[in-house]
Amino acid sequence: MGSVRAMASTRLLGFINAKAACSTKTLARAGCRLSSKRNVCSSPSRLQSSMQAWVIDQYGTNGVLRYTEEISIPTINFASEVMIKVNAASLNPLDVSMRGGYGATLLNIRRDPSSLMGNYNEFPLILGRDLSGVVVDCGSGVTHFSPGDEVWAAIPPWKQGSLAEFVTLTEYEVSHKPKSLSHIEAASIPYVASTALSALVNAGGLCRENSSNKRVLITGASGGVGTFSIQLLKAWGAHVTVTCSQNAEGLVRGLGADEVVDYTAGDAVEKLEMMGKFDVILDNVGGDSEQWAVGLLKPWSGAKYVTLVSPLLLNTDSMGLLDGAFHAGFTLHNKAIQNILSSGIFYRWAFYAPDGFVLDEVSKLVDAGKILPVVEAQFPFTQVPQAFQKFEHGHARGKTVVRVAEEEDDWAEASDSEQEVQETGQQN
Ligand SMILES: NC(=O)c1ccc[n+]([C@@H]2O[C@H](COP(=O)([O-])OP(=O)(O)OC[C@H]3O[C@@H](n4cnc5c(N)ncnc54)[C@H](OP(=O)(O)O)[C@@H]3O)[C@@H](O)[C@H]2O)c1
Repeated sequence: MGSVRAMASTRLLGFINAKAACSTKTLARAGCRLSSKRNVCSSPSRLQSSMQAWVIDQYGTNGVLRYTEEISIPTINFASEVMIKVNAASLNPLDVSMRGGYGATLLNIRRDPSSLMGNYNEFPLILGRDLSGVVVDCGSGVTHFSPGDEVWAAIPPWKQGSLAEFVTLTEYEVSHKPKSLSHIEAASIPYVASTALSALVNAGGLCRENSSNKRVLITGASGGVGTFSIQLLKAWGAHVTVTCSQNAEGLVRGLGADEVVDYTAGDAVEKLEMMGKFDVILDNVGGDSEQWAVGLLKPWSGAKYVTLVSPLLLNTDSMGLLDGAFHAGFTLHNKAIQNILSSGIFYRWAFYAPDGFVLDEVSKLVDAGKILPVVEAQFPFTQVPQAFQKFEHGHARGKTVVRVAEEEDDWAEASDSEQEVQETGQQN
């Protein structure tokens, strides 16, 4: 299984090779932090059976987050698993949604099929889908990792998350962390990279070899997925147009965006219409954007509209598994048929797809300086609720990172970063 996935990932990502679109200098001007630190491995002691974590015991708003030191350490149950000591995690919109119960119906079935009978309790649940950390233990069948290896990973949504001291994953979900990044920087990338690659490659049909003559529009480009996608597409040589708020223009241009349209200005759609048609649109916004965005694509040329905002999990939550999945499938089918028949446009939904082999390739791009981390804010582990609060406020400019295990140098940077958060909040 591992080799099949490795081959698929190699096929998708073997094309990556291009120049970085931005420099450290431009990113620094855009408010991003860059540093280089290493970490010390520390495995759970033989006597340690519990760990620190932020959990939820019910779905709700920020008040449901609870700090505990009494969560069982996730032991290795399968030969292919690795246990990782988490150094840093980051927040994504999915964490806020999952805190509120989003996707619970489908995710519980994936966690335990007997949940269909209604007697399953997923709590206490640990949120956090990104991690950067150090391997502390390996199952007997693990071939690519050893204790002490620095790794990064995007965690599947049905597994316990990274707002905890330790996480256990299969080795196929884990990748060696880029050497050029600190854990804080590395934790900002896996989830958005896995999402962007799934959307742009699998759904959008783009790759290094075919992107140089492509015009791509990214809506909502100033957040986590957008800031990664701009850099990836520029590394592949695409022409990249983005929509974002006016005060994010410096950031997205620093990352390489060719054209920037301020969606708050009122005439954004008219401006986009005058720029010429696009080959691919990556929609990070959803809502009514698909009503005008599809018309910006080149008709009858294989152009693709890819949205990350689909109703699948919302439908299964509100209507139950079968009705919800059927309803979502029906919606997708209708839109796909309508668009292909009317203008030859491929209409697609994309989903985040964690994959260690994909991260191996992203790691090479990062170490080659072609992809830079965009860390907007960082919080200590004691302030996870504050991190959620900041993130929920919206207006992300890159990623919000949580320092799960403090590295010595991070303390020096921490107060600066928290000051920046306040300043960013005031600007917005
Ligand atoms: N299907 C999946 O598996 C999957 C996976 C990952 C993400 N997603 C979804 O994809 C979306 C993007 O994710 P993300 O991690 O990048 O989110 P994010 O970090 O929260 O960024 C969203 C960005 O969009 C900007 N924005 C908001 N409204 C906008 C508009 N109308 N036009 C242009 N920009 C706008 C925001 O800044 P301002 O408000 O200041 O403009 C912010 O910078 C989210 O909806 C997320 O739920 C789906």
